[in-house]
Amino acid sequence: METKEAVQKKNGGALKLDTLKITDSRTGKEFEIPIDHETVKATDLRKIKVKDDDFGMMTYDPAFMNTASCKSRITFIDGDKGILRYRGYPIEQLAEKKSYLEVAYLVLYGELPNKTQYEEWENQVRFHTYLHENVKGLMESFRYDAHPMGIFVSVLAALSTFYPEAKHVLDPEVRRKQVWRLIGKVPTIAAWAYRHSIGLPYVYPENDLTYPENFLSMMFKVAEAKYKPDPVLVKALEVLFILHADHEQNCSANAMRSIGSSQVDPYCASAGAAAALYGPLHGGANEAVLRMLDEIGSMDKVPAFIKDVKDGKGKLMGFGHRVYKNYDPRAKIIKKMADQVFGVTGKNPKLEIALELERIALQDDYFVKRKLYPNVDFYSGLIYQAMKFPVDMFPVLFAIPRMSGWLAQWEEMLMDPEQKIARPRQMYLGSDKRDVN
Ligand code: SDX
Repeated sequence: METKEAVQKKNGGALKLDTLKITDSRTGKEFEIPIDHETVKATDLRKIKVKDDDFGMMTYDPAFMNTASCKSRITFIDGDKGILRYRGYPIEQLAEKKSYLEVAYLVLYGELPNKTQYEEWENQVRFHTYLHENVKGLMESFRYDAHPMGIFVSVLAALSTFYPEAKHVLDPEVRRKQVWRLIGKVPTIAAWAYRHSIGLPYVYPENDLTYPENFLSMMFKVAEAKYKPDPVLVKALEVLFILHADHEQNCSANAMRSIGSSQVDPYCASAGAAAALYGPLHGGANEAVLRMLDEIGSMDKVPAFIKDVKDGKGKLMGFGHRVYKNYDPRAKIIKKMADQVFGVTGKNPKLEIALELERIALQDDYFVKRKLYPNVDFYSGLIYQAMKFPVDMFPVLFAIPRMSGWLAQWEEMLMDPEQKIARPRQMYLGSDKRDVN
């Protein structure tokens, strides 16, 4: 707890002490806890005790519903206003005006790259798109019908054995090189996982293609000399990658920070983050939305499905958000972009069902009362499917761009002097001491 003198020193003599006054009814003692950015430090509560040898007061916050685990300067979200900014830039402007690699650089290094910085960045990422030939052997060991996310997570972890120097996480040059490798290789891992599942030969990266073009080529090139993706679809993928780059302290970012706090290499940490993303409540939701739309099947079945959800028999996947209690700004952009994609691919027949679900949900009290709006996953899957991505590739399509966010969060954690190995406490309610008889 800061003394008043310390606060005066910090505030140039002004005694600007925002504090929380707490009275412990068990002892009658009063405490004054400093408030900083609408937050009190949990460790300041430890002074609140009954007996001197007590551990002291803790906060209890399952799923971190109301806990700031870090100070961050990467992404700002205002859930009530539906605002999302990367390093201060509104997502709408970045999606319209920038490429994914420019936005990845911004998320990672805090500023949009100038021409020289961008050329160096794009060259380094491009230079690291290849996978060691041994990775093919690992991929071959999976069944043909292995979920690509299972392959993606496994290959990420396996890459830690190819780059042992990555363990030196406190060396900025070592970190920078692993960032190039991970951003460069995730599209290759994703595409090769898909090619393995359909028994097609792997397509190697081509250096004259942009980041999204290269990924589409590695995914879909067959016998043609040069794969030529439709520019509308390339732009759509560029925007989708930008929208998925980071999202402050979501489940997988928290996993990245927590695993990374033990100072393990970034390949193992990002494998853990990707595993967290795979869950249907997180990045696996885009796949779950399409399976839900398939299950509903037709417009006339929508009312019965909505009734089941309201009866607690399931969730409306792609709806709801821990932070957004308004329309997810990313969902707005994706929904708008869908028309351009469908203009090229033909409309996804499931769009009607999705629009009807949204129409009903936005006026039904069950959803309105719980502030459930479409999130980033509700419409993205419809576009991915129209672009001929198989449904089980959708979480992988989320993970590719989110790699930049995970690495930005990881690096910020490592450089934060207030951070150390993550090790929460618990409220123990188990048995008291008892002897084995
Ligand atoms: C992502 O955190 C991030 O930033 C994540 C993400 C990112 O970019 O990293 O934005 C990406 O993960 C988006 C979310 C994708 N997930 C889904 O679409 C799955 C469906 N949504 C839900 O599972 C849920 O809304 C969560 C997980 C997203 C948020 O859950 P919370 O904040 O823990 O809210 P909750 O489960 O406590 O729900 C509050 C109430 C409950 O009802 P009651 O118990 O009060 O009666 O709302 C209900 C829930 O049952 N509810 C839903 C619902 N989501 C919440 N009811 C029906 N359908 C839903 N989708």
